[in-house]
Amino acid sequence: QLDRAIRPLSLADYIGQPIVREQMELFIQAAKGRSEALDHTLIFGPPGLGKTTLANIIAQEMGVSIKSTSGPVLERPGDLAALLTNLEAGDVLFIDEIHRLSPIIEEVLYPAMEDFQLDIMIGEGPAARSIKLDLPPFTLVGATTRAGMLTNPLRDRFGIVQRLEFYSSADLATIVSRSAAILGLALDAEGAFEIARRARGTPRIANRLLRRVRDFAEVRAGGQISRSVADQALNMLDVDERGFDHQDRRLLLAMIDKFDGGPVGLDNLAAAIGEERGTIEDVLEPYLIQQGYIMRTPRGRVVTRHAYLHFGLNLPGRMAEAP
Ligand code: ADE
Repeated sequence: QLDRAIRPLSLADYIGQPIVREQMELFIQAAKGRSEALDHTLIFGPPGLGKTTLANIIAQEMGVSIKSTSGPVLERPGDLAALLTNLEAGDVLFIDEIHRLSPIIEEVLYPAMEDFQLDIMIGEGPAARSIKLDLPPFTLVGATTRAGMLTNPLRDRFGIVQRLEFYSSADLATIVSRSAAILGLALDAEGAFEIARRARGTPRIANRLLRRVRDFAEVRAGGQISRSVADQALNMLDVDERGFDHQDRRLLLAMIDKFDGGPVGLDNLAAAIGEERGTIEDVLEPYLIQQGYIMRTPRGRVVTRHAYLHFGLNLPGRMAEAP
C-alpha cells in the first residue's frame, strides 16, 4: 500500500536524524566487518518519527531477516520462545512498545539478550520442567516512546541507544518531496515546505497531510500542489499556521481557560479535555514542549507566553513583565 511504498529501505534514503544515521552506519559496518550480530539497539522518541522504519533499515543494512512483534502482544513466555527459536544467526527481533512487556517476559528476555540462552518452564505442577536452549546470536531492536518507562535491567542490556528527535522543516520538506515523487504528485518546493512546516516535526504526519492535500488539489486545483493550495487545504483540515491541530489547541486552551495557565497535573488535564493521560504525555505534549508552548515543572504543566500570543490573548500580569 502507499505507506510501504514511501518508506525508506536504506540508511542512504533515510532523511534527517544525522547523528543517528552516522552512528548506525558505523556500528553496522563494524559489526558486518567482524561477521557478528549488531549489538542490541534501543530506539526511543515520540510516535511517527520512524522507529519501525529504522528497525527495518537496520535489518536490511545488516543483510538479515527481521521478525516483528510488540510488547503487549507477548503474553506468555512461550510467545517469546516461539519467536526466539525461529531466529537465524544475526537476525533482528523487533519489539515495538517494549516498555509494555510483562515482568515474566522480561525475565525470559534477559538471558536471551545477554548469553543467547533461552531458559523457560514448560508444563505445570509436578510435571513442570525447565528447559534450556542455545539461541543463535541475534539483535534485539526495541522501540519505545518513553525510555524512562523501561526497567533499569532491561535498559542496561542495550549496547546501542538512539533517541529520535523531531525533524526540521527542511528535512520534512525533503521527505514529502520524496514521497510526492514516488506517488507521482505535482508538488512544488514551496508547497512541500508549507506541508513540512505544519507537520509537527513528524514524518508520519507530513506524509498524511500530503495525502489529504493531494485530495484537495485533485478536486479543487487540477492536481497541482503549490504553497497556496497547500495552505488552503491545511486550513480546511483545521491544521493551523503553527501546525497545531484541533487536539493541540484544545489542550492549550484548556490550560489557559480552566487552569489559569497552570500549573496543572496530568490527571486533571486529561479529565478536562477527555483524553487519556498516556496520549497527552506521548502524543500531544512532546511537540508542544519542544516548541516552547508548554513547560513541565515540579508542580505540573504550565503554558508559556507563546500559548497566549498564539491565540491572540492578552498575557496575564505575571507574564507581561517578562522581556
Ligand atoms: N519517511 C519516514 N521517515 C523518513 C525518513 N527519516 N526519511 C525518509 N523518509 C521517511
